Amino acid sequence: MSEIGVFEFQGKRYEFPVEIGTENEIAIDISKLRSKTGGVITLDPGYKNTGSCKSAITFLDGEKGILRHRGYPIEDLAKRSNFLEVAYLVIFGDLPNKEEFEKFEADVKKNSMVNEEIKDILDGFPRAAHPMGVLSSLTGALTAFHPRHAGMYSEEEMYNSITKILGKFPVLAAWSHSKNEGLPLSYSDNSLDYVENILMLMFKIPTTKYEANPIIKKAIEELLILHLDHEQNCSTSTVRLVGSSHASLFASISSGVSALWGPMHGGANQAVIEMLEEIIEDGGDVDKFIKRAKDKNDLFRLMGFGHRVYKNFDPRALIIKESAKAVLNELGVVDPALKVAKHLEEAALSDPYFIDRKLFPNVDFYSGIIYRALGIRVEMFTVMFAIGRLPGWIAQWREMHLNKEPIGRPRQLYIGVNERKCVPMSKRK
Ligand code: CMC
Repeated sequence: MSEIGVFEFQGKRYEFPVEIGTENEIAIDISKLRSKTGGVITLDPGYKNTGSCKSAITFLDGEKGILRHRGYPIEDLAKRSNFLEVAYLVIFGDLPNKEEFEKFEADVKKNSMVNEEIKDILDGFPRAAHPMGVLSSLTGALTAFHPRHAGMYSEEEMYNSITKILGKFPVLAAWSHSKNEGLPLSYSDNSLDYVENILMLMFKIPTTKYEANPIIKKAIEELLILHLDHEQNCSTSTVRLVGSSHASLFASISSGVSALWGPMHGGANQAVIEMLEEIIEDGGDVDKFIKRAKDKNDLFRLMGFGHRVYKNFDPRALIIKESAKAVLNELGVVDPALKVAKHLEEAALSDPYFIDRKLFPNVDFYSGIIYRALGIRVEMFTVMFAIGRLPGWIAQWREMHLNKEPIGRPRQLYIGVNERKCVPMSKRK
């Protein structure tokens, strides 16, 4: 079935091809709009209606609350798979068989050392530096140690860069945490699996043997899978945009970390816990904060609520909410923030302001409660998100290069002053 999008402007009729995705999503291909119309562009701040690429990685239906990676529902992947296996799926397109998985895991592990000179860079940061800023800088710094790893000109080159960043990123993430905590830096232990190694890197102290608590391991594995990819979100679009200039994979991922840091995006998981604490310290009056969130003269927003794409429950939030209850139960942790979060959720979900705007809890609403119960400090929450999102960024970067996408370069509508003469300073009023 071929469809055509018709557009009439200044008495002329223009036709544009319509593309239909495998899940029947419809897109009008306006790539020839400027050339056909002699310069007309579309205006779409925040890209709310703009598809920036075609992608075969993740399908998301925000109205129905569906999220699938390479066709597999997120619910199945979170319950039945391990993180590195889903990383392979998302990056290369299929779940690996035993041989493929073992090779991939071995290649990632081969790359789990970072250059010792990175420690000198880390030393230069103040101890109080936010770990996301440190992680972004150290990831960018990898380019200095692997200058020939732009990594996009052949499948082999890409594979080498991909296994390098997957091996090194958790080490840099853990070091950003150790710096913050004033702890000595740990090295990877290749006898552990990917997620156990992350936990060991973060929690091991030199005086004791570290053994991952299975409840913690299971919870972290699930959280990492739930964060793995989310199609063209802010940080992923950043990775694609930076990568489209043929900057290296490491430089592109470093930009993705910076984009993720903001509280409108991944930084919301830290902001949610800070908000819940503020509510508790203020006496626990949830209605007061709901009122503030609705007040257009107040900058306060209900953190962990709302989503650009989900206009129904975020399927990841449903899983995380159940896990939060289970983890707190299993570990015997009583966190007053969970009670406040549930109260806040109930109050918001029965309030016309949130109902009319289709604002539901998102992935970040309950994740912080789990991280906190597992003993992860609040500044590290977004770093955990970044470790989870890394394979998604990689997959999108790889797909962009395999599809030979052009450099990303949006247009604008200029609304500044028209041409004027430059007068010498002595003659300016
Ligand atoms: N609290 C109060 N009002 C809100 C909220 C909120 N959390 N989110 C949206 N609104 C209102 C907004 O003021 C607007 O109202 P009106 O139509 O009267 O102007 C309406 O709902 C639509 O909001 P929007 O800002 O146009 O929606 P958006 O798609 O541009 O923004 C969002 C999406 C996630 C940035 C926003 O919902 C938000 O700021 N949420 C809080 C931060 C957050 O939890 N971020 C994590 C997002 S999910 C994980 C991730 O991306 O990493």
